[in-house]
Amino acid sequence: MDIIEGLKTRRSVRRFDTTQKIPHADIEKIIAAASYAPSAHNTQPWHFVVIEDKVQLAALHTLQPWTAFAKDASCVILVCADTEVSFHREKENEQWSYADIDGTLAAYGILLAAHDLGYGACFCGAAPMPLVIEKLQERFDLPRNIRPVAIIPLGVPMASAAAVNDRYNAEKVHWGKWSD
Ligand SMILES: Cc1cc2nc3c(=O)[nH]c(=O)nc-3n(C[C@H](O)[C@H](O)[C@H](O)COP(=O)(O)O)c2cc1C
Repeated sequence: MDIIEGLKTRRSVRRFDTTQKIPHADIEKIIAAASYAPSAHNTQPWHFVVIEDKVQLAALHTLQPWTAFAKDASCVILVCADTEVSFHREKENEQWSYADIDGTLAAYGILLAAHDLGYGACFCGAAPMPLVIEKLQERFDLPRNIRPVAIIPLGVPMASAAAVNDRYNAEKVHWGKWSD
């Protein structure tokens, strides 16, 4: 699929064919493609937790309330970022980290690679919600430095996604400076 076509036709998919599983080879292909995402200082701080257990999938909504549809997914990829590996500063007067941004870029790669292979996926947020981070770390035994960034249910879509209106808005493009 052409990249621009993929960017324009990807949609969040929340209804999956529960009779079909995504083969591990395709999950690996999706994660491999996402691993080419850009990252600050090329630290590639991402980790991917693949969850296929039905009980765990059905319980996800108790950790993040807007993931109830994950119960029907073939799997969830929990995209995480290592805050110790990501480009960051921890000084008295300067504290920041690119972990969430790097993880999110990898997550977007997962959405696009899944779309290219004909699977459906949906980005569900984790970081920066502190309670969600804490619950996910506890449930999936994540070390404290492993920050969950996105919960991505994946599966074979029940129906092809509806096309959306043109999202391009020329008023949001500011040439040179904000106002004319
Ligand atoms: C940071 C972020 C968090 C999101 N969290 C959720 C979520 O918890 N549950 C959900 O169903 N969709 C979630 N979404 C998906 C958005 O609702 C979706 O991307 C948006 O409605 C646009 O639709 P589209 O993806 O089909 O273009 C999230 C998207 C982003 C970027």
